[in-house]
Amino acid sequence: MSLMDRVAALEAELDKAKARTAEEVEQFRVAMLGRNGAVTELFDAFKTVAVEEKKLLGQRMNKLKQLAQARFEELKDGVGETAIATGPQIDLTAPSLTEPTGSLHPITIVRQRIVGIFSRIGYTVSNGPEVEDDHHNFGALNFAPDHPARDMQDTFFVAGPEGTSGADRALRTHTSSVQVRVMENSKPPIRTISPGRVYRNEAISARAHCMFHQVEGLYVDKGVSFADLKGTLDHFAKSMFGAEVKIRLRPSYFPFTEPSAEVDMSCSICGGSGCSICKHSGWVEIMGCGMVDPAVLSNCGIDPEVFSGFAFGMGVERIAQLIYRVPDLRMYWENDVRFLEQFKAAPFRS
Ligand code: DAH
Repeated sequence: MSLMDRVAALEAELDKAKARTAEEVEQFRVAMLGRNGAVTELFDAFKTVAVEEKKLLGQRMNKLKQLAQARFEELKDGVGETAIATGPQIDLTAPSLTEPTGSLHPITIVRQRIVGIFSRIGYTVSNGPEVEDDHHNFGALNFAPDHPARDMQDTFFVAGPEGTSGADRALRTHTSSVQVRVMENSKPPIRTISPGRVYRNEAISARAHCMFHQVEGLYVDKGVSFADLKGTLDHFAKSMFGAEVKIRLRPSYFPFTEPSAEVDMSCSICGGSGCSICKHSGWVEIMGCGMVDPAVLSNCGIDPEVFSGFAFGMGVERIAQLIYRVPDLRMYWENDVRFLEQFKAAPFRS
């Protein structure tokens, strides 16, 4: 091939040259303009060309070299643009750096679970204030002003505005205050649960705290019976802890229910054979309950001659304790991530 033909062939090659990466641009530069590159070699061969041919060929070759140079710049810029358009080069096969994820608080997990069980059988969720008045926390629930039952709950009173006594305002000691608000504001049939925080003036220890969580339940309609109460609580216990658990009701006393009962469940930890959690009795107490006292219905504007109802109240920490066996109640409030991150996968059967 004559030198002139080689120039023409290289021009065509330059036109077609492509590069997708910086590496390919460099390969192009070496192949064309490098020390042993095609263009460089042509210049070496030029030395042997006859004088009369030199002028024309020299011009073509200089043009070729400029073209190769320009093409190189173009390819280099092209790769630069692609790099900008796609952002930094990412290795999609590299293992990802996982962001630490948070987890729900165990009390939240258990509360959501309780709420879920009752919403599926038609209970609504209702809320009330944490700073409550005497009427809703005590009076309407049948706690007479000098009733000894008030001693059951050590109340935190809240100071009133300047010059007023705080006697009528307190941090609610139980979520039963919400059943009063619901009954005052709605007509039966009422089927509701009220989850929330409650406060009691207790010395803080592994087994007691001045704030904790309860879920109150209330069902008022015509003909609601104690059997309905027991059936509902049995359904709850089995849904929460497993179909094998049993419940039993023991007579008890609450000012706002008559009759009243304490609910025990066969120990979900040892299956009833006896362990340290159930103090070797095979039973653990899970909540209080009863038929709403007719006086409470009247206090809230519901006719006890027409309607009856049941109520129950459980401690969320208590239920959580039976699931997670947290040894110290204070841990629920410390928010130590080493504690919290253990609840990422909740051990619930559904
Ligand atoms: N309020 C009670 C407490 O804090 C719990 C309770 C017991 C609620 C019986 C009820 C009930 O609705 O019927 O200890």
